[in-house]
Amino acid sequence: MSKFEVRGKNVLLTGASSGIGKELALLFAQDGANLIIDSRPHNRSVLDSWADELRKKFNINVWPFHINLTDEKGPEKLYETAREAAGKIDALINDAGTFHYGCFSEIDYEQQELMVKTNVMAVFKLTRLALPDMIKAGEGRIMNITSCSAFQPTVYHAAYGATNSFVQTMSEAVDAELKGTGVRVLTFSPPYTKTPLLKAANLPERIPWFSVSGLWDPAVIARKGYQAFREGKTICIPGPMNWLMHSIIIRLSPHSLVNAVSLWALKSSK
Ligand SMILES: NC(=O)c1ccc[n+]([C@@H]2O[C@H](COP(=O)([O-])OP(=O)(O)OC[C@H]3O[C@@H](n4cnc5c(N)ncnc54)[C@H](OP(=O)(O)O)[C@@H]3O)[C@@H](O)[C@H]2O)c1
Repeated sequence: MSKFEVRGKNVLLTGASSGIGKELALLFAQDGANLIIDSRPHNRSVLDSWADELRKKFNINVWPFHINLTDEKGPEKLYETAREAAGKIDALINDAGTFHYGCFSEIDYEQQELMVKTNVMAVFKLTRLALPDMIKAGEGRIMNITSCSAFQPTVYHAAYGATNSFVQTMSEAVDAELKGTGVRVLTFSPPYTKTPLLKAANLPERIPWFSVSGLWDPAVIARKGYQAFREGKTICIPGPMNWLMHSIIIRLSPHSLVNAVSLWALKSSK
């Protein structure tokens, strides 16, 4: 499959104010894509100055929006405003997400509900809203950022892992349905990456699983995701060890073993 040419294309990217999303914005901008970027209103100035910097440095159009994806009709509002501003959305990157670490029954109920809205409902809605326009145009590409946690139950982040599993399986199935339309739905599943997400989640500084997965740099991870996007890889799990674990070993192992290892490997090792 030929590489997706991003120059002059309009890319709607959520979660662009920090971490992997911010790095992805830079990569798209460097290659001449126009960007419609979003994050919550509390980070308005951060997103606006990132948009200014990208606009000036790369001579592209950048439209920053400050729509909270957990607001009632937030995803609908973002898609409509983005389409009005740019005229057409050629690519959609669903990067925005939240994460909470701890026992399922103890993590704040409302925070978990907001996480489900952000990681599941917003991705479901934006994907569903963008596809008809892309199919009509005969081209388009969506990349949903999931996580290595999408491929098995994840103890101490039970609901977070489950949100990623939802998006992973939905995206893979939809991509298969789209055969022949010129439109693709891809997934990118990073391992643990040093971003504000982990701090906000209260993830311990050290867990045994880091020795398998590593703790990655967001710029390195974004580059791998960007390459996978351009090349049209249905599934991308960065790092050979992570790929082997999540696509082969865990799939062939009994559930009881996976859950026992998960219980040990995902708790604090301090
Ligand atoms: N870091 C990891 O270890 C890791 C591993 C695997 C997968 N991932 C996935 O990668 C994606 C990016 O994560 P990251 O690590 O780069 O995290 P991050 O630095 O915390 O970035 C998350 C982004 O999502 C935005 N966001 C969160 N809630 C939002 C909402 N309700 N409405 C609009 N925007 C919202 C944040 O913006 P504001 O806070 O400014 O609103 C921020 O721009 C997430 O989907 C995450 O699940 C991360």
